[in-house]
Amino acid sequence: MPTLGSCSFYFPLKVSMAWVAVILAGGKGVRMRSRLPKVLHPVAGQPMVAHVVNALEGLELSRRLVVLGPQTQAVREQLGDGLSYALQPEPLGTGHALLCARDALDGKVDSLLVLAGDVPLLRAETIRALVERHVSSRAIITMLTARTQQTDGLGRVVRDGAGRVTAIVEEREATPAQRQIDEINSGIYCFQASWLWPNLAKLSKSPSGEFYLTDLVQMAVESGQGVESVEASSFQEVMGVNNRIQLAQAEAAMRQRVRERLMLSGVTIIDPLSTFIDASVEIGEDTVIYPNTTIQGRTVIGEGCRIGPGSIIIDSQIGDDCRILASVVEGSVLEEHVEMGPFCHIRPESHLGKRVHLGNFGEVKKSRLGPGVQMGHFSYIGDAQIGANVNIGAGTITCNYDGVRKNPTFIGDDAFIGSDSMLVAPLRIGARAITGAGSVVNKDVPDDMLAVGVPARLRAKGQKADDGQASAEATPEAQSGEDT
Ligand code: UD1
Ligand code: CA
Repeated sequence: MPTLGSCSFYFPLKVSMAWVAVILAGGKGVRMRSRLPKVLHPVAGQPMVAHVVNALEGLELSRRLVVLGPQTQAVREQLGDGLSYALQPEPLGTGHALLCARDALDGKVDSLLVLAGDVPLLRAETIRALVERHVSSRAIITMLTARTQQTDGLGRVVRDGAGRVTAIVEEREATPAQRQIDEINSGIYCFQASWLWPNLAKLSKSPSGEFYLTDLVQMAVESGQGVESVEASSFQEVMGVNNRIQLAQAEAAMRQRVRERLMLSGVTIIDPLSTFIDASVEIGEDTVIYPNTTIQGRTVIGEGCRIGPGSIIIDSQIGDDCRILASVVEGSVLEEHVEMGPFCHIRPESHLGKRVHLGNFGEVKKSRLGPGVQMGHFSYIGDAQIGANVNIGAGTITCNYDGVRKNPTFIGDDAFIGSDSMLVAPLRIGARAITGAGSVVNKDVPDDMLAVGVPARLRAKGQKADDGQASAEATPEAQSGEDT
């Protein structure tokens, strides 16, 4: 909410004024050399056009309309139905794209905010400053500009002796002197709709065969109407991505921005340059991220965790005080105080309860491990439901696949699975049951029973073996044979 102290962020539009935002994304993006539409190329894990949409948050807009071409319809699937869409049947230029928006904008529109879909670093504050200037100046066009030495391919802002904007000249049409101009057009503008619509229809083709939106600036100046401009605080923020070199530059800048946001909110990042965190990730205070770590997608990490070095976390929820050392966690939930690593792989749809401990080389897939489960050394648990405080000895494997189906394994609370147990699913092992080291368990084990051998035979705990050898009431450590 705006406060008196931050009134520059207040968006002073009257409700009676209808504002719409139009995002142009109908171009082919040929310079990307890609099958994927340009604006869907991800930057810090999100399509660049999604960053542009996010930057509109907080503005009072009656509509957000995206102009798409026949080859960029996939954008609609990504952005969803919360936005409106218009079709530009052929990519005849930015001026033509905005003309295509017109028909889709039925109803009353007083002012338009027009943006390109390829400026992922644009910040909401900058858009607000542009809109505020447009409202306060009553100009018919207010454009966002920036200063840079990297002017290649960009439209230059031409001003008269008094510093007033007179035109935007595209690089292809610019004279050598105009090419020296270091103020560029960002491709982001506000327009007064009543002036825009009739004049947009008057645009003529440029020598390159496209209808340039930028030609409107000179038309406005020639008709004696004011064109205002706002200079962005950095060029980087309005940098359009046209090729994969610029994509990498945008990626680096966005990732640095994400790291800085997290560090300012209380996350320690030991080595920012080797830490890759998507814009969508949330991390709690006092969590420390060690080097060579990647955190992606819809991941939420709690407070006081230690993540990495060398961990990859994707689309997962990690509770407070977890430790994830050199491990991969995908699409899973970890409750508080879970520890793992080095070299664990938690695959999708897994749920690890409080204080679960996984040591070296553990793989868990689509399984639920109850609180306090211990699995110290090289084991595979797939399609299993494991109760509280179960010990899983070294080398234990759920043999969940019979060549046709994936079969489930159930293990009750406080069971003790000896080292190198092969649990042939479907299988149910009861609470407090024990499996002997090296056993191949292919039949259910009731609560409190012991299963030993290959294939495993059942005994009551404490019962002698058939051959008279002492066995059974072995301590769990002896059954496990495991060095913890
Ligand atoms: C445009 C500007 C240039 C500015 C630069 C800033 C024009 C003529 N030039 O050039 O002054 O410095 O942006 O980055 O406007 N699009 C359509 N339909 C089309 C063509 C483009 O929807 O027929 C969309 C694209 O998908 C893109 C945006 O408009 O999102 C900008 O198009 P692009 O081709 O990248 O323009 P630039 O050459 O970068
Ligand atoms: Ca561009």
